[in-house]
Amino acid sequence: MPIVRGEQKFIFVGGKGGVGKTVLASAIGLNLAEQGYKTLIASFNPVHSLSSVFEQNLSGGSIVEVKGVSNLYAVEVEIEDVVARYKERITKLIRDFLKWAEIPIDPKGFIEIATTNPAFQEAASFDKMMDLILNESERFDRIVFDTAAVANAIRLIGLSKIYGLWLQRVIKSRQEALSLRAQLSFRKDKALEEMKSDPVLIELLELYKRYTSVKSVLTDPSKTSFIFVTIPTMLSISVVRRFMDMVKAYEIPSGGVVVNMLIPKEEADRDATGFLKSKFEEQERNMEYIRKLFGNQLLGYIPLYPEDIVGIDRLKRLIRDLEAR
Ligand SMILES: Nc1ncnc2c1ncn2[C@@H]1O[C@H](COP(=O)(O)OP(=O)(O)OP(=O)(O)O)[C@@H](O)[C@H]1O
Ligand SMILES: [Mg+2]
Repeated sequence: MPIVRGEQKFIFVGGKGGVGKTVLASAIGLNLAEQGYKTLIASFNPVHSLSSVFEQNLSGGSIVEVKGVSNLYAVEVEIEDVVARYKERITKLIRDFLKWAEIPIDPKGFIEIATTNPAFQEAASFDKMMDLILNESERFDRIVFDTAAVANAIRLIGLSKIYGLWLQRVIKSRQEALSLRAQLSFRKDKALEEMKSDPVLIELLELYKRYTSVKSVLTDPSKTSFIFVTIPTMLSISVVRRFMDMVKAYEIPSGGVVVNMLIPKEEADRDATGFLKSKFEEQERNMEYIRKLFGNQLLGYIPLYPEDIVGIDRLKRLIRDLEAR
């Protein structure tokens, strides 16, 4: 039985830090591959956790086949490389801009400000995500995105909206500046020619084209599904709740909520110290809240296992447990 309801090509897994996003993304990827879909799992964790879940070296930043499972591929995005490459592009853009505007200033300061601000890493990750959506969707039937911590993921989504508005503004002012320059020029024809080959405008238009295609994918419920994972604690629940609100506001389709790390009732009953029993009662109260909050959005439940989820066999057990409820 499928974990994911529906036929969406792009599946995003989000939630608070440490709640089991990488494990769930891996399980979903494995489940899809077993159904015969050629599937890619793309992980944006700064620490390479896919490699440890599948017990093989999947790092290096390129797409590799997962051994032991047919139809399954993985990529652990090297955030540092992605940031470095993005920085190069932005640097070129700023240099071109200053050169064109004939501003005799050392661009280093501008480049520092543009590329060292805290949102830059997220912008670079978002750009890499756009690459995968645009360039790998022919090769794969399904792509599962494991999107690091929730704050990152929210920014990634939020960015897709702000990014478009920002790009539109920048493109417009660039066009205005270019046409003003053409009007003031003695050689209008030459200036108009220059306008067409303006490297800054070309780059901006290219970015905008990429952004609009990705946005149309991300907001299409037949193509994209966002799955959230929570554990039965108030903090994690409220993160997913906030996340769901954001997703709704950005018109991104939600694929439901998975509850992870549930203490099994048998274990709580068996525990003589009362420690687990008390934890279990708290869990029951939180579960009531979860049911009230997410209702028919609940996709399934995963028990807390006595050990980490490492290796394909444990992933398969997780899939069985998730489907059982
Ligand atoms: N149901 C479970 N039972 C036992 N251990 C679990 C369960 N779910 C996840 N784990 C373990 O918890 C740890 C965190 O899981 P995972 O790495 O998937 O979380 P994450 O949300 O991706 O974390 P991060 O935010 O750091 O990327 C891992 O060691 C994983 O094996
Ligand atoms: Mg992770």
